[in-house]
Amino acid sequence: MESFAPLLRLFQGMTRKGPGSEASTLRALALCPLPENPVIADLGCGSGASALVLARVLQAPVLALDADGTALDDLWALAQAQGLSSRIHPRTGDLADPGIAPESLDLLWSEGAITHLGWAEGLRIWRELLRPGGVMAITDATWFEDDPPGEARRAWAEWYPAMDTEAGSLRTARDLGLKALGHFRLPRRDWWAYFDLVEAQCLKWEGDESLAEVIAARRSERDLYLRTGHSYGYVFHVLQRP
Ligand SMILES: C[S@@+](CC[C@H](N)C(=O)[O-])C[C@H]1O[C@@H](n2cnc3c(N)ncnc32)[C@H](O)[C@@H]1O
Repeated sequence: MESFAPLLRLFQGMTRKGPGSEASTLRALALCPLPENPVIADLGCGSGASALVLARVLQAPVLALDADGTALDDLWALAQAQGLSSRIHPRTGDLADPGIAPESLDLLWSEGAITHLGWAEGLRIWRELLRPGGVMAITDATWFEDDPPGEARRAWAEWYPAMDTEAGSLRTARDLGLKALGHFRLPRRDWWAYFDLVEAQCLKWEGDESLAEVIAARRSERDLYLRTGHSYGYVFHVLQRP
């Protein structure tokens, strides 16, 4: 298992820390029925790739929660630069216990972070935070094939053993009483945009022996995606608490 500290150091300053794009964030947002003045939280917000878009487009306050205080510092600097600091409320916290009152949110956003809890456990904890009628928009790593290539299976068995298919993830959501309002696969260009950002960091830190292992691991993730990315990816799910 990879140690976390070198990874955080390598990713420091990255504006996006997982596959995604503003276009995909907006596509998911269009699927979300929202009241006026919605109460919003972005869980595992990183440096704000989606939180800043939500604050700008919805013109509403966004609670932006992450365990990584350095990423929140970067988010705060970006919010100030973009004139959004009055709407962004950064908070250091834990995805499993975010300290948000039950039934208080109209919109729970989370890109690339539910993997740290597992889909079923994450939905079970987070649905309690939604008001009746509230929605979650969440990306999660997902199998696109029932029989993926062995090397992809072996890698993801280590990274995310609970990874499910689209049908399996939808079944889990429904079993937890959530209504599926829509879902779509992140386009491959969202992955390549992310890998480009990662490679820029790898080049920046190349030669730092303490990061050699994480740099090699990032490059092999990209190579795995190149060979087997047809068999997995991220799915954006929009789910409503009835
Ligand atoms: C793949 S990154 C995605 C970040 C951001 N949503 C984005 O798309 O750029 C996952 C984020 O989850 C955060 N994270 C991981 N485990 C966490 C936990 N237990 N509590 C809070 N945040 C956590 C990491 O610090 C990281 O910022």
